[in-house]
Amino acid sequence: MRDSLLIRAAFSEKTERPPVWMMRQAGRFMKEYWEIKNKYSFLEMCKTPELAADVTMLPVDLLGIDGAILFSDILVTPEAMGGDLSFGANVGPKFSNPVRTMADIDALEIDVTHKLQYVADAIKVIQQRLNGKIPLIGFAGAPFTVMSYLVEGGSSKDFKLTKLMLHNHPEMAHRLLSKIAKVTVDYLNMQIAAGVNAVQLFDSWATALAWDDYKEFSHNYNVDIISKLNRKDIPVISFCKGSSVFAPLMAEAKPDVISIDWNADLLNIKQSLPKGIAVQGNLDPHILYADKAVIKDRIYKLFDRMKDEPGFIFNLGHGIMPDIPFDNVKYAVEIIKEFRY
Ligand code: CP3
Repeated sequence: MRDSLLIRAAFSEKTERPPVWMMRQAGRFMKEYWEIKNKYSFLEMCKTPELAADVTMLPVDLLGIDGAILFSDILVTPEAMGGDLSFGANVGPKFSNPVRTMADIDALEIDVTHKLQYVADAIKVIQQRLNGKIPLIGFAGAPFTVMSYLVEGGSSKDFKLTKLMLHNHPEMAHRLLSKIAKVTVDYLNMQIAAGVNAVQLFDSWATALAWDDYKEFSHNYNVDIISKLNRKDIPVISFCKGSSVFAPLMAEAKPDVISIDWNADLLNIKQSLPKGIAVQGNLDPHILYADKAVIKDRIYKLFDRMKDEPGFIFNLGHGIMPDIPFDNVKYAVEIIKEFRY
């Protein structure tokens, strides 16, 4: 796998074209996903290795992308720590026992990899099915983003309770973030031991934070996590919404790749980073709703801009939306695979 397009680009080596994968590629924009989802709950799908493998393989088989991403969720770690997690139809994730006090934080478990064995099992089944064709990307949520779900009890628009905890009770926030960081290191190293070929740390909601708060409550934990991963030949991709602003700090954590949201000019960001850090991104996912001529124009413009910079992986600035037409996603992958620098 070290010689695959994706891993070479992640290690900033020259490739004949940019490799392509897309965040949330294993999901709801495919009717084949719904054929499985209509029979099982989301958590059953995550916890049954054969089903997780079936879903992971959908974009591999139907789109021909250059990297598979493990089908799972960032919330399986807080669930293993003691969060009572459910996913209702159209309401997103819920924790019925939100974490609001020091006693709540103290009650969370941190030696939990045994409870996540189903993920290691899924990785083994997926690698058998991939059979060396393309790399498999593992992932986990970053502590701040995971914390927000535990504290809010689910998704949030403004992260009011989470930010109140940071501002009024920083000692509580740090205790909680430290516990999540410990679990995240063990969990990602478990995925690496089970056979993933790259890992991505998702800090989706870092964009809610001011610079100093990002540094203290998010970035410092990501630095710690990345420094403790068994990363020989395993590139580490650091993603956050807000990366257009936070990229210089993210680089200090020394990931191999920084995944950039769609606000920034990708070449400017790449050139501002230390040598040896690749970039991933950064098409606005809404472009995939547009006409095919627009899709091609925007993707090829991005490629033209990045053509002299080894260390570029094509991705979206954030995940694919569930109602993006499958045909448009397939078209995007096709024109990317036809492209040559
Ligand atoms: O990228 C992939 O295709 C791999 C699988 C994957 C899922 N979630 C599957 C999923 C990954 C990498 C994630 C990560 C994840 N989960 C993140 C970080 C990435 C990001 O997009 O920012 C976050 C914030 C979550 C938390 C989460 N899980 C939410 C908010 C939801 C609600 C659904 C929504 O509106 O996005 C989920 C559920 C979820 N995770 C689904 C899938 C396919 C939908 C489940 C369903 O079928 O209803």
